[in-house]
Amino acid sequence: MRKILVTGGAGYLGSMLVSKLIHRGDEVTVIDSLRFGGSSLAHLAGFKNFKFVEGDVRDLDLMAGLIKDAEFIFPLAALVGAPLCEKSPKEAEEVNLLSIKNLLELVGDQKIVYPTTNSGYGMKEAEEVCTEESELTPVSLYGRTKVDAENLIQKAGNGVSLRLATVFGSSFRTRFDLLLNNFVLRSLRDKRIEIYEGHFKRNFIHISDVIDGLIFSMDNFDKMRGSAFNLGQDSANMSKMELAQKVKSFVPDLVLTENNDQKDPDQRNYIVSNEKIRKMGFTARVTIEEGIVEMIKVVKLRPNISENL
Ligand SMILES: NC(=O)c1ccc[n+]([C@@H]2O[C@H](COP(=O)([O-])OP(=O)(O)OC[C@H]3O[C@@H](n4cnc5c(N)ncnc54)[C@H](O)[C@@H]3O)[C@@H](O)[C@H]2O)c1
Repeated sequence: MRKILVTGGAGYLGSMLVSKLIHRGDEVTVIDSLRFGGSSLAHLAGFKNFKFVEGDVRDLDLMAGLIKDAEFIFPLAALVGAPLCEKSPKEAEEVNLLSIKNLLELVGDQKIVYPTTNSGYGMKEAEEVCTEESELTPVSLYGRTKVDAENLIQKAGNGVSLRLATVFGSSFRTRFDLLLNNFVLRSLRDKRIEIYEGHFKRNFIHISDVIDGLIFSMDNFDKMRGSAFNLGQDSANMSKMELAQKVKSFVPDLVLTENNDQKDPDQRNYIVSNEKIRKMGFTARVTIEEGIVEMIKVVKLRPNISENL
């Protein structure tokens, strides 16, 4: 049984991670400001090994007390995604970057497993494969704060960082702004998807593989410490249009059109290698097709859902 602190534990990834840790028998404390509410954690209320603190990671006194009791920390609290960060740039700097700097000043021998985004790889030449050695050139404020925070963690030497591909799949707080989830929602609700920058390639990963990857990094911390690892599914390096066509193969009356007036705020177009973490013994398993089937069921079960939830 381990003592674990999860910041942002009520979110899309956090609620799934915390559930899994609690069922493993770990002792977990979550701190979250409940920006999206707390119903994502309500199913854990009866577990004695689950503790919840409503609060802000920018509160240094509160964080100091929580950190000293922890063995492992997953700092997940963030303003996630380029649009949200552009809307609240000061808060994005404070939560995504400054709170990590403060965390590193407060920790003693606690170990940190940090999720960041692989959107920092930005625009690459066609067929160039990004490894952890590839240059990080984030475009958006979101990408920059995450890359800068990762650098601080690497420098401190007591962390592992995972550069996540675009996540898909359902959670206790399912996000519908993520590409695959969003395409499935729109395919069933609108029967039409207008795609911009359809040839831009991305890498994808199912949420259950992300959670297993985070826990794998905790369990293998001493071997992975001080390094960054791409975390994605190798078979899921594909363009937006290829992804949309896969969705169409499950929703035949879907109409796909292209419109290149809009731009991805993160300007990402890359193929990612996940070999480094695979060599450590971790492989992502859930396929894009399985994710589409899952999300079709989710949208049918939640017909009034919108991408802003
Ligand atoms: N979902 C993805 O595709 C993805 C990809 C790469 C990296 N990540 C990273 O994983 C982490 C979690 O992302 P997510 O998708 O679960 O996002 P999310 O928005 O669902 O969860 C973030 C959580 O942080 C909380 N939070 C925000 N500001 C806070 C503050 N000041 N104090 C305390 N809590 C605060 C929110 O209430 C929310 O519950 C983030 O660090 C994100 O950058 C996510």
